Amino acid sequence: MVTNVNTSNSNKKVFKPNYMLVEEAHVKNWEAEIEKGKDLEKYWGEKAEQFEWFQKWDKVLDESQKPFYKWFTNGKINLAYNAVDRWIHTDKRNQVAILYANERGDERKLTYYELYREVNKMANALKNLGVEKGDTVSMYLPMCPELLVSILACNKIGAIHSVVYSGLSVGAFVDRMNDAEAKVLITADGTYRRGKIIDLKRIVDEALLKCPTIETTIVVKHTGNPIKISELSGKEIFYERLLEGELDECPVEEMDSEDPLFILYTSGSTGKPKAVLHTTAGYMVGVATTLKTVFDIHDGDLWWCTGDIGWITGHSYLLYGPLLLGTTTLVYEGAPDYPDPGIWWKIVEKYGVTKLYTSPTAVRHLMRYGSKYPTYYNLSSLKILGSVGEPMNPAAWRWLYKNIGYEKTPIMDTWWQTETGMHMISPLPISPLKPGSPTLPLPGVDIDVVDEKGKPVPVGEDGYLVIKRPWPAMFRTLYQDEERFINVYWKDLPGGVYRAGDMARKDEDGYIWIQGRSDDVLKIAGHRVGTSEVEAAFSSHPAVAEAAVIGKSDPVKGQVIKAFVILKEDYQLTTDVIEDLQKHVRYELGPVAVLGEIAQVEKLPKTRSGKIMRRVLRAQEEGRDLGDLSTLEE
Ligand code: PRX
Repeated sequence: MVTNVNTSNSNKKVFKPNYMLVEEAHVKNWEAEIEKGKDLEKYWGEKAEQFEWFQKWDKVLDESQKPFYKWFTNGKINLAYNAVDRWIHTDKRNQVAILYANERGDERKLTYYELYREVNKMANALKNLGVEKGDTVSMYLPMCPELLVSILACNKIGAIHSVVYSGLSVGAFVDRMNDAEAKVLITADGTYRRGKIIDLKRIVDEALLKCPTIETTIVVKHTGNPIKISELSGKEIFYERLLEGELDECPVEEMDSEDPLFILYTSGSTGKPKAVLHTTAGYMVGVATTLKTVFDIHDGDLWWCTGDIGWITGHSYLLYGPLLLGTTTLVYEGAPDYPDPGIWWKIVEKYGVTKLYTSPTAVRHLMRYGSKYPTYYNLSSLKILGSVGEPMNPAAWRWLYKNIGYEKTPIMDTWWQTETGMHMISPLPISPLKPGSPTLPLPGVDIDVVDEKGKPVPVGEDGYLVIKRPWPAMFRTLYQDEERFINVYWKDLPGGVYRAGDMARKDEDGYIWIQGRSDDVLKIAGHRVGTSEVEAAFSSHPAVAEAAVIGKSDPVKGQVIKAFVILKEDYQLTTDVIEDLQKHVRYELGPVAVLGEIAQVEKLPKTRSGKIMRRVLRAQEEGRDLGDLSTLEE
């Protein structure tokens, strides 16, 4: 247990650990684990022993070309082999690996053995399409078992996957597809959303007109939506047909530890979305270790991560982490409040979910319906709850703790990012908790809050959140853009530290309190949305001459978009134009771009070099002092 936390004299209430969980915890002595974690090579080297390697590594950490760190150099390993094949030789062979459920009450279960066969078939099918080691395969799929199978099939043959979140729309999709230059795209006939079927294929058809690299589109018949594909052209094929007659055995590709595993796009404050590149072995070690210790995964657990596989949370902790640990992972397709706001709790009761990992936005959303719905169900199977994506406000924390956790399940508020790949700041089940803080950096992780000179800030003062030493699941670069990788993350602050882009504070116990982003990235319902991408969407509308957007506080979603637009001559911001702008931005970006307000302006505050000063707009919006205006154009 973390012993140096002052539980009596703190200005914030401290929740002590549940002693039953402490007894069975993988990590029982926090101080000893932290001490061990100081020797990065020894600590992470030991953790890497949990996997089956084709060839062991020479060196755990190679720091010779900072910030291009390498982990487990010259090791040979395969992720799909460790996440699936390994288990079929054990008594997990017939255990459910993937439990799929949806809002209609449909259910599908794949045991590890069934998953193994399906992955092999898909891997063979991809090879027959000409996909080779190092090629990129893109996916635009709903939360369905075929998405997990396709990802694992890529791993098996050494292809790089690039998943585009199925909630993103045409414009965002085109940018991401063209950047990844994939030859193959896997999509579906639709996804279920609130009693309707969203036709993903229609979006794909439109987008592919602008994506020249895609040679083959594979379409999963997921919803039975009666779509037609042009099979005769040889460019489109149904997934089910593709797999017909494929062998259910496929040789494993021996991957180098540092071979690319996947690309995942995330938004930055400027320019196009960032293609975050993760590699094989370090990512596996980091993700499996943190899931095991933070959520204390044991045999018999039923793990449910409510995040979408289209984001890093789903990659690391819905798919990879649980399968690497041989757990059953629940894949749920649907909204948290449809057909009614008790649906999640119904699922927890029905399947006996033991660990539930969700987001502050979802909790705040469900909180609005009051505490009635959880009382209809028996949630006593739950042992540990978790949260990610944005600060968990204490009111939401308490609601979750009381109504879902029955005041016995701790909440693991995990801080991390697409770039970090794994949990970085988080409690363990043995940690005293303070609602609103992700507590302390994990063992084997070195984090601090510093000022512009790189000096640690005093207790209670705002500073930049930095990661001081490399960690195994760290992204290795931005795909095809090393310059941006260095400029965005490694250059700003002295000492060669990684700048996370968040502002934070530390309290008297060293607990970290995240204050929000220090850049112009918005956090809408926990999703990272780049201001420049939204502005580009606005500017591509015929009525708009120029646009600037900022985040506006929202009680449920954390932030929504407030847009300032300069309209072209002859246009006024009428209700029709507003409606049309809303439709247009949604068409370009998808439902992640939640618009709060659109205001018409004559001018935007800019620096002399023409950069929009969003900070001025924000200060104005919040009625704060406008700060230093010396760089303002006029
Ligand atoms: O601002 C922090 C916030 O989410 C950002 C990372 O976003 P993304 O790459 O989309 O990954 C989200 C899922 C890992 C961070 O820079 N964030 C994430 N977790 C927390 C958080 N803010 C406060 N508390 C958290 N637990």
